[in-house]
Amino acid sequence: MKSASILIVGAGLAGLFLALKLAPRRCVVLSQAPLGQASSSAWAQGGLAAALAPGDDPKLHADDTVAAGAGLVDPAVASLIAREGPDRVRDLISLGVPFDRTPDGALAQSLEAAHSRPRVVRVSGDLAGKAIMDALIAAARAAPHIEIVERKRARALLRDANGRVCGVLCDNEEAFLASDVILATGGAGGLYAVTTNPTEAQGQGFAMAARVGALIADPEFVQFHPTAIDIGRDPAPLATEALRGEGAHVINGKGEAFVADLAPRDVVARAIHLERQAGRGAFLDAREAVGSKFPAHFPTVFAACMSAGLDPREAPIPIAPAAHYHMGGVATDIWGRTSVEGLWAVGECASTGAHGANRLASNSLLEAVVFAHRIAARLRDDAAEHALAPGPATAPPTLADEPRADLRRIMEAHANVVRDGAGLERALADVHALGESHGQANALVAAHLILSAALARTESRGAHYRSDYPDVATPQRTFVTWRGVSGTPNAAAAS
Ligand code: SIN
Repeated sequence: MKSASILIVGAGLAGLFLALKLAPRRCVVLSQAPLGQASSSAWAQGGLAAALAPGDDPKLHADDTVAAGAGLVDPAVASLIAREGPDRVRDLISLGVPFDRTPDGALAQSLEAAHSRPRVVRVSGDLAGKAIMDALIAAARAAPHIEIVERKRARALLRDANGRVCGVLCDNEEAFLASDVILATGGAGGLYAVTTNPTEAQGQGFAMAARVGALIADPEFVQFHPTAIDIGRDPAPLATEALRGEGAHVINGKGEAFVADLAPRDVVARAIHLERQAGRGAFLDAREAVGSKFPAHFPTVFAACMSAGLDPREAPIPIAPAAHYHMGGVATDIWGRTSVEGLWAVGECASTGAHGANRLASNSLLEAVVFAHRIAARLRDDAAEHALAPGPATAPPTLADEPRADLRRIMEAHANVVRDGAGLERALADVHALGESHGQANALVAAHLILSAALARTESRGAHYRSDYPDVATPQRTFVTWRGVSGTPNAAAAS
C-alpha cells in the first residue's frame, strides 16, 4: 500500500497543471497510460479561449459563455474562468508552450463558433493540445515534488470510517492512500460508438465519485462535435471548428448549405445529424478557405484526411457528429471541492457550472487550468494531513470487449444528438441487463447516470434535444446521487 499527501488521479492537462502548481507540496500522479497517451487533452485541436486581444474583455468572454450554455451556466463561474484565463495563458507560456504569434509578436487569436471575438490561442494551427501536453509532461517529469506512476488505472475510491475519501483502489486491488484525492480522469465520449475521445474515456471519474455518494451534476449534457471526419476510424479524427472560423462551409452531398457555419455547436451538430439521416450526406468544404494552406495551417486534419486517401485541398471532407465533451460530471464548488470530504474534481470529469447545457468552444482547456490553479492554491494553504484508515472495499468489474462494444452501440443509438423517451427507456433497460450479466462496471454506472438524467429532462436545451419534448422548460441544472448497484439514481432536477 502506497501513501501520499496528495493523490491526483489522471494525467491530462488538468492533472499535470495542478501537480505543477502544487509546488512545493509533494504529490503523486496516477496515469492509466504512459504520459500523453489516452488523454483527450493531447488531441485538442482548438486551443484555449482567453480575452487577451485588444478590444476584448473578460466580461465579453463571460457573456458568450453564458449565452452558449443555454440558460444553465453559473454566471459567477463564467466570470471567474474568463477573468483568470489570461493569467493561466501566461503560465502556459512560461512553461514553454509556443502559442502562435502574429508578425508583430502578439498572440494570434482565432475565431470559433459562438465567440463574439477572435480569442482562441492556438499552436501551429491545430496542434495546441499536443504542444501544451508536451510542455507540461517535460515540466512534470523534471519537477522534484511530483511522483508520476504510469499504467495505473483507478477503479474505486476508498473511504475511512467517517466517509472521508482517503485513497483509490487500482487494478489488482492495489491501493494508493492520500489525505486528499483529486479526480482528473477526463470525459465520457468513449461510452459512444462514434467519439473524438480516446475510447478509454468512459466516465470512470464521475462513476467512482457517484459510488461514494458524491453529487453528480448535469450528466445528460454530452456535447457532440459537429465535424468529426467520417472515415470509419475509432476514435474519429476531428476537423477543428477553426476551419469554419477560417471560412470553410458545411454542405450536403448536393453542395447545398443547410446550416449557419458558426451557429452554436449543438445547432450545427443536429443539422448535420438530420441531413445525414435524410440521406443527403454532410461535408466540410475547406477547398477555397484553406486550400493550399492545409499542410501548414491544419497539419493534424490534413494528415488524417490524407491517410484515408482524401485530399482536403481538392475535395470536401465527409463529416459526422461525434461525442466530444461531457458538460456533466462531479459537482464542485469554485475551489474544485466535491460534496464528499477529501475528494476534489477538475477538468472534464468535474461539473463546475462553467459550461451549462452547451460548452463554448475552447473553454474546456481554460476551465481545466483555472480550476487546477484554484485547487492547488487551496491545497498549498491547507496542508492538513488526515489519518489514512480505509474501510474494506473491492474494485468493480471492468467490461470485456464485447459488452463494452454493446454499451457503445446502445448509447450511440439512444442517447445521441436527438433523443426520445422510448429510446432512453430502452437504453436504460439494456444497460441494466449488461450490469446483470457482466457486473456493475464503472462505465455502466456512468451510462446509467447519463441516460436516467436524459429521461428525466423532459425538455430540449443545448446539447440535450428530445424529439418528444422539443421546447425549453424552466432552466434548472440536474443534481443526482447514485443509490447503489441495484437502486436507481435519484434523477430529480434541483436548482
Ligand atoms: C475544435 O477544435 O473544434 C474543438 C475545440 C473544442 O472542443 O473546444
